[in-house]
Amino acid sequence: MKIISILNQKGGVAKTTSTQNIAAGLHGLGKKVLAIDFDPQGNLTSGFGLDKRNLDYTVYDLLKAKSFGTSKLNFGDIVVETSFADILPTNIKMSKVNLELGGVPGKESLLKEILKDVYGYDYVLIDCPPSLDTLTFNALMASHEVYIPVQTEFYALEGIVELMDTIDIVTHRMNDDLRIGGIFATMVDSRSKLHVEVIGQLKEFFGENMFKTLIRRNIKVAEASSHGLSIFDYAPRSNGAKDYKGLCVEIIEREES
Ligand SMILES: Nc1ncnc2c1ncn2[C@@H]1O[C@H](COP(=O)(O)OP(=O)(O)OP(=O)(O)O)[C@@H](O)[C@H]1O
Ligand SMILES: [Mg+2]
Repeated sequence: MKIISILNQKGGVAKTTSTQNIAAGLHGLGKKVLAIDFDPQGNLTSGFGLDKRNLDYTVYDLLKAKSFGTSKLNFGDIVVETSFADILPTNIKMSKVNLELGGVPGKESLLKEILKDVYGYDYVLIDCPPSLDTLTFNALMASHEVYIPVQTEFYALEGIVELMDTIDIVTHRMNDDLRIGGIFATMVDSRSKLHVEVIGQLKEFFGENMFKTLIRRNIKVAEASSHGLSIFDYAPRSNGAKDYKGLCVEIIEREES
């Protein structure tokens, strides 16, 4: 079971969209996937077609049960099955977590502890919030790898150094199994020359860690999430479906090489 955090503290770079479509793409290639919505915005939960205002329990309740031991809730009570992957959903209630866990010892390893009792998945994908906070540390503590989506725009590399520093800190102090699994370019606009330059810079910075597949800007990708569907269910012949499938093939190849 490989656990992967999809992380970039920069907002709107397609973390959530990619988590959903990688989950669906890996499912299409025969893998069993659990997706974890670890962002209080709950966008992944909506993307999976669930009503985030109407959830009995969320991953937040699971974290609290683990930290305070006050309830017997466990993974099986929270996980929701969908046509392509299981999901631990969330909603805005989880924004209280940073405050509530303030003084709890070991507050960074709650998700890791939860996942210790979870079996049967090939991949676990964690959609991280656009911040470097207690939630993100929990995700990194629990993960084997980090995938970093980068939008190919002028300020793409801004914040990358800070992100690398954070990953280094986690690696050295808390989880020395953690490694950078890959970087991929998102919302690539092939009509603009800018992406060529940005991708060149990313390759220079990350070398072999850069996935070859580029995720192009494709309106179908945005539409799919807004309908609570993956790109493969919404527009299987679109460039978006081709690109995310290509990325998933690479992910599995890396695993096997
Ligand atoms: N390939 C694409 N083509 C067109 N639009 C896209 C593509 N990928 C993502 N988007 C759109 O870009 C916006 C940001 O994507 P998304 O919500 O996945 O980013 P995020 O990094 O998760 O954001 P946040 O930091 O707020 O969590 C969304 O409106 C999404 O539909
Ligand atoms: Mg998001």
